[in-house]
Amino acid sequence: MNNSMELPVIDNQRREFFSQILTGLGGIACGGVLASLSACEPFTTKVETGGKALFDTIKDDPMGICNTVGNALVINLKDTNGNVFNNGYKIVILRRGTVTVPEYVVVSSRCNHQDCEVVAPAAPGENLVCPCHLSEFSSTDGTLLVGPATASLVRFNSSFDSTTKILTIFS
Ligand code: FES
Repeated sequence: MNNSMELPVIDNQRREFFSQILTGLGGIACGGVLASLSACEPFTTKVETGGKALFDTIKDDPMGICNTVGNALVINLKDTNGNVFNNGYKIVILRRGTVTVPEYVVVSSRCNHQDCEVVAPAAPGENLVCPCHLSEFSSTDGTLLVGPATASLVRFNSSFDSTTKILTIFS
């Protein structure tokens, strides 16, 4: 009598079958249905709770970092009541648009891997990098490009007043 346990053998046909199922699940996950299980989780926009912070693109950016399309400014802000914004994490103001018509996208600096904060790109258009384990995010919109992080940077709704040059960031 043979008491040894035999491990199930998965032949190539079954292996291919399971592979296709997993690939299919991955496709669904990237579409958001199973986003929490996915390594390609799409960005989420911060649910607004009524707070806001004001960023004067002239006075609050004396080095003119946001004058250059593709640049990003990583900064700590307080809200209009003087309270910490984004739970004390910095925000990242991504300069988009054109030289004459600025647009901005605002994301949190918090990397979801182990809560480190991304740093500004070394040059305009380069990726945002988390210094702890080198996850990378798009400097266009904070989309996750390289793990180990599993989610894009959380995005804040914002509005730019081209007359006052003030960017309002909603929290
Ligand atoms: S905390 Fe960002 S990659 Fe680990």
